[in-house]
Amino acid sequence: MTEITTPRELFLHELGDILYVEEKLEQEVLPTLMQQVRDAKLRKGFEKHLEQTRQHVENVEEAFERLGAQPRTEECIGFEGLKKEHEHLAEQTSEELVDLVAAGSAARTEHYEIVAYEGLIAKARAFGEREVVDLLEKNLKDDKETARQVESIAKELSKETAKEFSKV
Ligand SMILES: [Fe+2]
Ligand SMILES: [Fe+2]
Repeated sequence: MTEITTPRELFLHELGDILYVEEKLEQEVLPTLMQQVRDAKLRKGFEKHLEQTRQHVENVEEAFERLGAQPRTEECIGFEGLKKEHEHLAEQTSEELVDLVAAGSAARTEHYEIVAYEGLIAKARAFGEREVVDLLEKNLKDDKETARQVESIAKELSKETAKEFSKV
């Protein structure tokens, strides 16, 4: 069924997808990851990003309002796939490797967000929605920074784990 027939409708749908992602990360994914991981740096990183993500939800809601629309989530199937992949991998992984799994999943998720925001920003810019561009750019900046940090932690953890396992 064709429900999306204008660029604005497409934009609002995609904005609803990213709202869904940010809400899931805030309410469910980041709090769970914080409990699962053992590495203090990784846990602190998730804690900090949870704070940022609360603001991301508000920024996306405000973007809807600036467009004169009611904030509405759309089930984001791509994100659900990433979440499922993480759960599938985590449940078959031993405790010593759980941090590596979490860091990898977090990096993939941040990159998913980054690409989603870049697409949204390009559209908002084309519509001439300057304030919406500014709001979404704030989220993009945090997610880029988080991706960089989590990738650098993942590198360190990879080295440490490889070293530990070579002793066995
Ligand atoms: Fe985000
Ligand atoms: Fe994020």
